Amino acid sequence: MRVTDSEENVLYGETLRNSTIDILKPADVLQTLRTTQEVTSVILDPWYNKGIGGERKDYHEWLSSVIKAACNISKHVFVWGFPEILAFQVQTIPESFTLISWLTWYYKNCPSVIRGWRSAQNTCLHLASRDAPVYPEHFLNDEQLERWRAGKMRFVPGPPSVLEAPLNIGFVGKKEQTKHPAQKPLAVIEPLILMSTREHDTVLDPMCGSGTTGEACSRLNRRAILCDISAEYLSITKKRMDQCCGFQKKETAMQSRLLEK
Ligand SMILES: C[S@@+](CC[C@H](N)C(=O)[O-])C[C@H]1O[C@@H](n2cnc3c(N)ncnc32)[C@H](O)[C@@H]1O
Repeated sequence: MRVTDSEENVLYGETLRNSTIDILKPADVLQTLRTTQEVTSVILDPWYNKGIGGERKDYHEWLSSVIKAACNISKHVFVWGFPEILAFQVQTIPESFTLISWLTWYYKNCPSVIRGWRSAQNTCLHLASRDAPVYPEHFLNDEQLERWRAGKMRFVPGPPSVLEAPLNIGFVGKKEQTKHPAQKPLAVIEPLILMSTREHDTVLDPMCGSGTTGEACSRLNRRAILCDISAEYLSITKKRMDQCCGFQKKETAMQSRLLEK
């Protein structure tokens, strides 16, 4: 089953075990959000408005409009960025949504040569509509799960809001690394999916870069819709899906040319 508006938007689509990954044709994030039907969770990982990806003067307004469009199609929206930049977004969360958690990704291995404090954190805002279910039980170990199912737990202990995982650089995370310059580790994407979705639910990542969300969804048996404005990065995503989950070629000759551009 396709979850996008139009079959024509799908560049590659393949059912893998119990999950389905669709890679859309290159498109702007707002276009993707405005043409996709309802999904369970959206992951937004834009350029940061500093360093790689450059700066745009209207960044805060632009990101607000992206978040708003995401909130129109999903009960859960995750937004990545640096804390000093995302702080602005907390003021403009759509009315029917709330900030469930300010998550911090803590990494110790940033090779920055800046004189002074070395960057060691990234933020991920977890926004959700007031009736959105969350699933802390997805983080329980087998023994805890048995006690929870037997009704022997007074409350479900949630995972910490600080995600500690190294940056995938050098020899760290070598197997995960693609050639994308800002790839997130699976270790910081998987918890977002576990907290906000159940098996077979759909996650949309409209700025998917190297496709980390796709690999995470495949591992967790979720559906994923992936897009990016860059054809080059989508081909990295495609290659990664091929490698991680036996993604099969389905594109037509015309679609192949589109990716080569
Ligand atoms: C920080 S990276 C995402 C990295 C990704 N989470 C991963 O793990 O590989 C940001 C991505 O946003 C994409 N992007 C930037 N502006 C965009 C736009 N207006 N529409 C769609 N994608 C965009 C970039 O091409 C880039 O791949």
